[in-house]
Amino acid sequence: MAAKAGHVTAGDPDSQPQKHRRLHQLLAKCSDVKSIVFFLTCTAFLFHFSTGILYRLVYHSPSSVTTLSPPQLLNVSTVEPPMTAAEQEFDIIDTFETEDKITLVRILNEASMKEKKTVIVTMMNQAWAEPNSTFDAFLDGFYAGEGTERLLRHVVVVCLDNEAYSRCNEVHPRRCFLLKTTGVDFSGEKLFMVPDYLRMMWRRTEFLGSLLKLGYNFLFTDMDTMWLRDPFTRLFSEVDFQVAGDYYRFNGNSSDLRNKVNGGFNFVVANRKTVEFYNYWYASRLRFPGKNEQVVLERIKHDLYIKQIGLTIRILDPVYFGNFCQPKWNISKVCIMHGNCCSGKRTKVKDLRHVLQDWQNYMSVVASGKADGHKLGFRKPMNCWRRGRRH
Ligand SMILES: *[C@@H]1O[C@H](CO)[C@@H](O)[C@H](O)[C@H]1NC(C)=O
Ligand SMILES: *[C@@H]1O[C@H](CO)[C@@H](O)[C@H](O)[C@H]1NC(C)=O
Ligand SMILES: *[C@@H]1O[C@H](CO)[C@@H](O)[C@H](O)[C@H]1NC(C)=O
Ligand SMILES: *[C@@H]1O[C@H](CO)[C@@H](O)[C@H](O)[C@H]1NC(C)=O
Repeated sequence: MAAKAGHVTAGDPDSQPQKHRRLHQLLAKCSDVKSIVFFLTCTAFLFHFSTGILYRLVYHSPSSVTTLSPPQLLNVSTVEPPMTAAEQEFDIIDTFETEDKITLVRILNEASMKEKKTVIVTMMNQAWAEPNSTFDAFLDGFYAGEGTERLLRHVVVVCLDNEAYSRCNEVHPRRCFLLKTTGVDFSGEKLFMVPDYLRMMWRRTEFLGSLLKLGYNFLFTDMDTMWLRDPFTRLFSEVDFQVAGDYYRFNGNSSDLRNKVNGGFNFVVANRKTVEFYNYWYASRLRFPGKNEQVVLERIKHDLYIKQIGLTIRILDPVYFGNFCQPKWNISKVCIMHGNCCSGKRTKVKDLRHVLQDWQNYMSVVASGKADGHKLGFRKPMNCWRRGRRH
């Protein structure tokens, strides 16, 4: 029921240890190549070598068969006109079983903002779904925020395991989708950069790409965020892909791609350019083994291919799209507060709850008109910082 397991097990590596080791060596060589030509050769050879083994080593789902196919990855500089390529791909969604796809489309349809076919998407596993944890804090943020409660009906929660799915249905019914992945258990708390974490992140990129193919614009948000003001008011219009920026390196110019990105929050308009872009991004994981989707985005954002498809990108100002890596915030401007630079679920939730308390305090002071609310601010996320900041 969960998936087409046949693809995963094709070419069982355990029965071919010799081949497996050689492939490992080859992968290691390919991982640090600088030259695109060598890379192309590597990719082509690896592909030829054994699709089955490659799948085992580099996470995939059945749809990778199409994603990996040339010419997209292999002949970067001479792709077909992007419009044509994407057009062909537009209605091919093989990431899901048919039944799951029907369910997904029903949820998207109900959740979508009527005028724009836009949804808000977030993702969780069992650890985050537990009562009084990340999920509850996330939802509480919408009720406390200014003009955010009405956005809740557009929030689709993608659940990575059955426990998360069942909890989601209890508290946020009709907006929960169970994303199945064969042979992987995403339910535990994921430590940064362990292989399951990487698979989860890439599964996410693949899934979001499929929403674009279904024609839905989406605002993806990590769940460890507090929505304090409506972020849509701060998004650019007529931009294909906009993504939160990293505070430390933000130079104030959203068009400047030298600004570093934070993949935990982005708004993407469904069109042929973004479909192509997500295919390319997902396929690029093979060029950078062991790297997460954010690191890979950093590496590919200047690629000629992205210019060729004409994708427009903006990097969102951390003044409005704030996070725990920042040393300070302006409470009268922050729309979103992201609890990154923080390890440990309990620690994170504690500090996110403090954000919420400080916000509520600020709101009541502003409403009373008694004091200057702008002098108030957020406490520093000391529980997170004490455990060491993480970038
Ligand atoms: C890429 O494709 C073009 C046209 O299909 C071809 O002329 C060119 O030789 C190819 N380049 C590589 C590196 O395969
Ligand atoms: C912002 O960056 C873009 C792209 O690098 C550049 O073309 C533009 O001139 C910059 N704008 C300002 C105000 O510096
Ligand atoms: C925060 O933003 C408000 C509103 O734009 C502004 O008046 C205030 O000066 C800012 N505060 C700081 C500390 O920058
Ligand atoms: C929820 O968590 C907070 C701290 O994160 C704790 O103070 C509170 O007692 C918890 N509430 C319940 C009902 O478990």
